[in-house]
Amino acid sequence: MDVKQSEKKQHVEFQRKIKLRKGLIEKASKLTGAYYVPFIGDGDIAFELYQGNKIHGADIDPAMVETAKSRLPDAEIIAADCDKYPFKKSIATFNLADFDSYSYPYDSFRNFWEEAKFGSQCVLFFTDGQRQAIIRTGHYRTPGGKKVKAKTVTEKREAYNFYFNKTVLPWFKEYIKPWKVVYITKYLRSASMCYWGAIIAREQRASKVKGKPGKAGEVHRNKFDSIKKDEYLALLRQGHTRGLAASLVGIHRATVSIHMKKDSGFAEAVSEAESDAIGKVENALFEAAISGNVTAIQVYLYNREPERWADRRNIRLAGEGGGPIEVKEIDAKAKLISIIAGMSARIREVENPQLTDGKGS
Ligand SMILES: C[S@@+](CC[C@H](N)C(=O)[O-])C[C@H]1O[C@@H](n2cnc3c(N)ncnc32)[C@H](O)[C@@H]1O
Repeated sequence: MDVKQSEKKQHVEFQRKIKLRKGLIEKASKLTGAYYVPFIGDGDIAFELYQGNKIHGADIDPAMVETAKSRLPDAEIIAADCDKYPFKKSIATFNLADFDSYSYPYDSFRNFWEEAKFGSQCVLFFTDGQRQAIIRTGHYRTPGGKKVKAKTVTEKREAYNFYFNKTVLPWFKEYIKPWKVVYITKYLRSASMCYWGAIIAREQRASKVKGKPGKAGEVHRNKFDSIKKDEYLALLRQGHTRGLAASLVGIHRATVSIHMKKDSGFAEAVSEAESDAIGKVENALFEAAISGNVTAIQVYLYNREPERWADRRNIRLAGEGGGPIEVKEIDAKAKLISIIAGMSARIREVENPQLTDGKGS
């Protein structure tokens, strides 16, 4: 990947982080308390979203701290290990905390939770790379801090596939009691990094989320709202099936069908997202064919121009008029070599028109 592509990718990833955060902040009631921003780095997220609030930020890297301080002059930002809680002496009451760590945000969160003071509602964000650890080595830490090893392939697969729903979520709900989850959302990047956020509230306020009023105590996390729809479409674009994409956003696939029936715009977006995924594969196939991969050449041509290129080896079951099959000796290898030679010549022509006289070789 060249520098430009990598910058573009980073920009897209950053915008996804911002979108997740904006969505939840808009849903929460007014957040008037302080914001805790451990792992603040050079302050990109805080600069984009949290200015104007009482920011308590920290990072282990003093150079990053200096950059963040210069960008956020009103914030209190210190160099510290955020796996511990570095503002023990502060009397601030927090409404938001953003644990954008590289891989394991939960030491930081647990220490914050045990030592800080909160208002009656809190918005939390997490960057969790434990699925990457599971798939690479099988070793990972649960959010509670336990070191676990998934030994067999089946154990790894189980831990990886159900990591959020079976490991993170049940632990989180139990850990924050008597607080309750009011709303929760997540997305995955490269199928391994998990970015998630939650609005939590002390029990009596659990139904106070902006939007349509819900029944008292209602928990909205299963609602297929615009944030979840966007996440669902992004997963389809990555090539996930409808069923898997639905379960990754925590929605039953029947709910998706209902929404597609009543919202033609959404139904259209679903098929566009699926076409995008297929388009990506087609492009990759074309690139592979152009660079001389014979299987890719065959698949591409058999499908694009079946009349000219169909592979008839398994189709012809009878001869003329249903009679016995007439067996002709064909030099299959020679035929394939001549097809490939013809194609290479055409590719050379397209790539280097100045080297040919336009008639091919
Ligand atoms: C993903 S970056 C955070 C980027 C940041 N959210 C932003 O908006 O620019 C992770 C940051 O965590 C910091 N970090 C890693 N381990 C840490 C620790 N134990 N305590 C504090 N900061 C840590 C790194 O220096 C790095 O700046």
